[in-house]
Amino acid sequence: MKNIIAITNRKGGVGKTTVAVNLAAALAINFKLNCVLIDADPIGSSSLWIEETSIQRLRLKRLTLPNSPSNKSHALQTWGASLSSIALECDIIIVDLPPIDLGVFSELIHQVGYIIIPVGLSSLEWEASFPLIERVISASKDNKKTKGIIVPSRIHPQKILPRDKISEVLPSQWALAPQISLRSDFHKAAEQKDWIGNTAKNSIAHKEINKLSKFIFKII
Ligand SMILES: Nc1ncnc2c1ncn2[C@@H]1O[C@H](COP(=O)(O)OP(=O)(O)OP(=O)(O)O)[C@@H](O)[C@H]1O
Ligand SMILES: [Mg+2]
Repeated sequence: MKNIIAITNRKGGVGKTTVAVNLAAALAINFKLNCVLIDADPIGSSSLWIEETSIQRLRLKRLTLPNSPSNKSHALQTWGASLSSIALECDIIIVDLPPIDLGVFSELIHQVGYIIIPVGLSSLEWEASFPLIERVISASKDNKKTKGIIVPSRIHPQKILPRDKISEVLPSQWALAPQISLRSDFHKAAEQKDWIGNTAKNSIAHKEINKLSKFIFKII
């Protein structure tokens, strides 16, 4: 469970899949980690993105997050057990999730070691993230050791992220990662169905993903 990182948010379109695919590839390539990217989104965005790419040490598996309203907790536990058994066969798992509600998030905290939340600069996105931040804090009071990582995502290159102010208010269970800015290279990588290190090698976008992967590697 310690080597399972889930990427999620309550909002759609914040860059979850972009971070998941590129981070998984960077961890496999830069740090020679055997990495499994789990596509948990019923839409299958990360599967569509990299299923035909052969990136050394990166495997893709589809394990859709259960969505049945009945017995949700049990279904999520079973899903988590499948994740844990995959985790035994690799160094690290990155889970690309669809937008989820607070109830599912609260269960998820028990199934994974780390939660990455990509958040933009808009107050709407931060307001949607606060309850998730809170849930991790309250879980830690029950001795759950899950850690949270905020990844500033889709940040306009001309805007300055107030990192000091954000770090000041983030509780100790949460870390603030290097930012991923809004770059057309990320969008192109998705269109070309490959990771940024192959589609835009040495670009700013590639360097940002490398920096993020180093940050995550140090934390885990
Ligand atoms: N850093 C970025 N720079 C430029 N475009 C980006 C960036 N991150 C994401 N995008 C684009 O924004 C759109 C949504 O990104 P993505 O699919 O990664 O978000 P998501 O949170 O996974 O969405 P969903 O909730 O639908 O799963 C895509 O068109 C993607 O190419
Ligand atoms: Mg997605």
